[in-house]
Amino acid sequence: MPDTTGRFAGRAAIVTGAARGIGAATAARLAEEGAQVLLADRAPEVMARAEAVGGVGLRIDLAARGAGEAVVDTALDAFGRLDILVNNAGIGGSKPLLDSDDDLLERFIETNLTSVLRLTRAAIPHLARPGGRIVSVSSTFGIAGYPGTTAYAVAKAGIAQMTRQLAGELAPEGILVNAVAPGVIETAMTEGHLGSDYYRRAVLEPTPLRRAGRPEEVAAVIAFLASADAAYVAGQVIAVDGGWLAARHPPREAG
Ligand SMILES: NC(=O)c1ccc[n+]([C@@H]2O[C@H](COP(=O)([O-])OP(=O)(O)OC[C@H]3O[C@@H](n4cnc5c(N)ncnc54)[C@H](O)[C@@H]3O)[C@@H](O)[C@H]2O)c1
Repeated sequence: MPDTTGRFAGRAAIVTGAARGIGAATAARLAEEGAQVLLADRAPEVMARAEAVGGVGLRIDLAARGAGEAVVDTALDAFGRLDILVNNAGIGGSKPLLDSDDDLLERFIETNLTSVLRLTRAAIPHLARPGGRIVSVSSTFGIAGYPGTTAYAVAKAGIAQMTRQLAGELAPEGILVNAVAPGVIETAMTEGHLGSDYYRRAVLEPTPLRRAGRPEEVAAVIAFLASADAAYVAGQVIAVDGGWLAARHPPREAG
C-alpha cells in the first residue's frame, strides 16, 4: 500500500536494473515512501518484482538503441509525470585492459555508460521543474584506481563525471543530479567473489567497517538523494562503502 504521506507521495520514478540487487531495494524503498515506480530490467523477474512493490514492470534491454525513449514513454503513459530517474542497471566482471577484446570493451561501455547517457537524455525534458532528481549508480572503482577492472571502472568514472556535468547544467532549472558510489555490496554481481580469499584480503579486510554492504544500505542513500531532504545537494558522488575510499586499511600482518 503506497504511503500517501511519505517523502515521495505524488512522485513518479524510474529505476533501472530493478529486478534484483540494489535496483530492487531502491524500487521497494521509493514505493514504500509513496512513489509510483517503473521498474525497468532485461531480466524476466522484473515483472514479479514490480508486482511485489505495487509498481509497473518493463522488460527491456537498456543497451539497445531507442530503449531510453521507450522507458520514458512507458513511465509517462503509466504515471503522467516524471520526477525521479535512478540509473542503476549495470554489469560487472570486466578485465584488465590487455585481456579486454573489442566485444568486452563495447559491452561494458554501452551497458554501463552509453545506455545511461541515452536514458538520461530521454528523461531530462520530462523531469519535474523544480523537484526533478537524477541519481546514478557509479562505483568506488570509478573513483579510485583498482587493478583489473578497466572497462567497468572507466564507465563508472564516466557516470561520476556525467553527474557533475549535468548538475551544473540542470540545477538552475530545479533538477538535482547526484550519484552514489557503492563499495562491495552483497548482490548477484559479487556473490561469486565474496567467499574468495583474495576478496577477503583485498577488499573486505581493508574496509573500515569490515563487511560488505547490503542493497538496502545503498537504497537508503539513493532515496535520500532523490528526496526533498537533499534539496541543497548537487553534483555529488557519495561513497556507500563502509569507509573504504576514505580510510582503507593497509594489509594486516600475516598470522
Ligand atoms: N554489488 C556491488 O558490489 C556494486 C558495487 C559498486 C557498484 N555497483 C553497481 O550497482 C548497480 C547494481 O548492481 P547490483 O550489485 O545490484 O547487480 P545485480 O547484477 O544484482 O543487478 C543488476 C541488474 O541490472 C540489470 N541489467 C544489467 N544490464 C542490463 C541491460 N542492458 N538492460 C536492462 N537491465 C540490465 C540486470 O538484469 C540486473 O537485474 C550496477 O550499476 C553496479 O555496477 C554494484
